[in-house]
Order: sequence, then C-alpha cells, then structure tokens
Amino acid sequence: MDYQTLLDEIAQDIVPYFGLGKVANYIPALAKINPQQFAISIATLDGQQYSTGQADTRFSIQSLSKVFMLSLVLGRLGDSLWTRVGKEPSGNPFNSLIQLENENGIPRNPFINAGALVVTDLANSLYGEAKAVLLDFLRQETGTTDLAFDLEVAHSEQQHGDRNAALAHFMKSYGNMVNPVDHTLDSYFHSCSITLSCAELARAGLYLANHGLSPISGQQRLSRSQAKQVNAIMLTCGTYDAAGEFAYRVGLPCKSGVGGGILAVIPGKLSMAVWSPALDSQGNSLIGLEALDRFTTRTGLSIF
Ligand code: DON
Repeated sequence: MDYQTLLDEIAQDIVPYFGLGKVANYIPALAKINPQQFAISIATLDGQQYSTGQADTRFSIQSLSKVFMLSLVLGRLGDSLWTRVGKEPSGNPFNSLIQLENENGIPRNPFINAGALVVTDLANSLYGEAKAVLLDFLRQETGTTDLAFDLEVAHSEQQHGDRNAALAHFMKSYGNMVNPVDHTLDSYFHSCSITLSCAELARAGLYLANHGLSPISGQQRLSRSQAKQVNAIMLTCGTYDAAGEFAYRVGLPCKSGVGGGILAVIPGKLSMAVWSPALDSQGNSLIGLEALDRFTTRTGLSIF
C-alpha cells in the first residue's frame, strides 16, 4: 500500500472543502484559529509513519483527551468503572444535560462531557492529579518531552465553562462526583487544552491499534479486551450524535475534538490522525470526515 501517495491525493481532494464549516467559537481562545489548515498522519504497527499537510503543527486536542483519560482509568479499574458511567450512545450533542435527570446522574458514556467529567473525577481519585498523569502519558506515548497545557485555552474554557460546571454539580447532587467539583473541572479543562500535532496524535493512538500494548513506550496500557472495549466505545460514541454517520462512511473507531482533530484506529494495523479546524454542525471536523471517508474507501481498510 502506497500510503504516502494516497495521503497526498487526499490532501488535494479536500481543498474544495476549505471555507465550509466553522471553527469552534464557544471558547474565545479557539475561535481565532485559521480554518484553512489540514494535516493527516498515519503511524503503522511496523514502525512507519506517513504524513501530509501541516502534520507538525500543534492544535488543541479538546475531547480527544477523553480517550486517553478513559484508558488511564479503565486500565486501573476495569469493569467496575461502569457503575459510574454507561457505555451506550447518547444520540445527543456532547454537552447535553437532557438525559442526566432521567438516568439518575449516570452519564450515557465516557465521551460526552458528563461522562468525561465522571472519568476525570475517578482519575483524580486513582492518581491524585489526573491532568499531570495524562500529560505524562502523552509525553511517553508520543515520544516527545515538550508537551504542555495551553493555559490560555484552559482559562478561556474555565471562564466559559458554565455548562460543564452545571453538569458536574448536577451529577454531584446524585452522588456521582466524589471529589470537589472545582478540582474536577480544572483537571478536565487542562486535559482538553493539551496541544498535539497530527504526527504526535497518530503515534499516541498506537496502543489502541496494538491490543493495548504500546510500541512507543513498551507499556501494556490496556488489556487486549480493554483495548477492544475502548475501540468499541469510540465507534459507537466517539463522534457524538454523528457516530452512525462515521460508522457508515468511515467504518473505524474514531474520536473527535472541537479543535478539529480526529483519531481513527485500525486494530492490528495502524493509528491515524487527521486535523482541520472547521467543524460541521455536530462538532466534528468537516474536512476530517471527508478525508477519513476517502482513506477507508480507497484502501478498503475498515473494521467491516
Ligand atoms: O467540554 C468542552 O466543551 C470542551 N473542552 C471539549 C469539547 C469537545 O471537544 C467536544 N468534541 N467534539
């Protein structure tokens, strides 16, 4: 498979889509990103990496952090995690409050904001300071030492974080937040603010492609079965109320973030990252979806 040629072709194919979609504007620090940027990177289990576009430009990982935080917690707790958070698609936007009251403060899944806040609360209980453990995890899994929180984004999000604060306090009223809500929110906002490039994100996802064992750090991050579980939740919940569309068009476990990044995994083969900041109406990178659709259609690679 000539991945490099294919990626370069995809980079040409997506040019007409520049100008469509909108960058996330609910956090001022994200609203000023130039939308006319694109990158895609593939990291294979046999140690190769192929990239095109601005694959070394860092962007805000936002909800992509939820995959790694979930891995940190699931790897330690195993199935007992599921008493605090569900694993069913929500069919609602990522920041929705709607289901929580009917479902006794138990969020539908770990990738909507409510679920990620519960996972962050658990991570703080398990690790003390989850945001620092997450940053260290990503440093190890990308093989780069200079990763950092983007403090401007973290503070901007804190100042505009009323909805996340509402979700967290509401869950606390049901007893589903153990630590002080302000600490959990601080950990969550900082985790979302970490910046990675596409090349780094593709490498960071390799443990999910390799049944939990990272070829980068050499660490067994998840058991084989847990790696399957995280990939399954990415497929069904990783792109929110567009998970059906992603499964249909891309056919891979994917996780998106409002910074315009998407991580996609082909178990047993490779991890790939795509980034373009303009989002579609469901909060996923518009060009990212186009690029992933083309990749799986042309290669015939998908989990189906
Ligand atoms: O909670 C928020 O609003 C953001 N920090 C993360 C949202 C996000 O990336 C949702 N993804 N598509």
